Amino acid sequence: MALIAPSVLSANFLNLSHDIKMINESDADWFHLDVMDGRFVPNISFGLPVIAAIKKEANKILDVHLMIEEPGKFAEDFRNAGADILSVHIEACPHLHRNLQQIKSLGMKAGVAINPHTPVQHLFDVLHDIDVVCMMSVNPGFGGQKFIQYTIEKIKQLKEAILTRQTQTLIEIDGGVTLDNAAEIIHAGADVLVAGNTVFNSPNPTETIHLLKTIV
Ligand code: DX5
Ligand code: ZN
Repeated sequence: MALIAPSVLSANFLNLSHDIKMINESDADWFHLDVMDGRFVPNISFGLPVIAAIKKEANKILDVHLMIEEPGKFAEDFRNAGADILSVHIEACPHLHRNLQQIKSLGMKAGVAINPHTPVQHLFDVLHDIDVVCMMSVNPGFGGQKFIQYTIEKIKQLKEAILTRQTQTLIEIDGGVTLDNAAEIIHAGADVLVAGNTVFNSPNPTETIHLLKTIV
């Protein structure tokens, strides 16, 4: 049974309170919050004030996925806004080890997000310092894209490395997760499923979260 992290990117921004309450009362485990700067990715989403507002109503872990350049400049601000897990992109961090230490020293869990074209092997030397790998199964920047099938192979490679090195790292899959492909993703070794479009564009988001949660 995987952890489920609905992506607020696909929520109704005119009625965020309603959607936060829905997630609070659902089988979801985390809130997945996508921050985009228009530079690292070709889109801009929401930032610190919105996350601080969500923190006031959310009763679950805030999993903040930074799709921004120079994330180290803002790590403390995101901690202050309420992030419990802070993920930075390996492609945006030439000094990743330093970023991980910074995030942990601020009291957050350290996540590393990795784009579809980046080999998972690039994470291996710092695996013991990573709490969560946010593996992108679409090119980051937009919700509602199609799952890139090669990701399944990457999940298996990463899972093997985690088991070999005996780290506690969680594998989170982000992008294009549906009720149809969730079982295959979990079987490959995923621990956490992010779902935006699948949850919020379904007739009954609470039920959809429940269905994702019960897939084994
Ligand atoms: C994409 C984001 C994802 C996105 C997933 O850049 O990182 O978290 O919200 O959305 P779906 O589940 O619709 O692919
Ligand atoms: Zn994300």
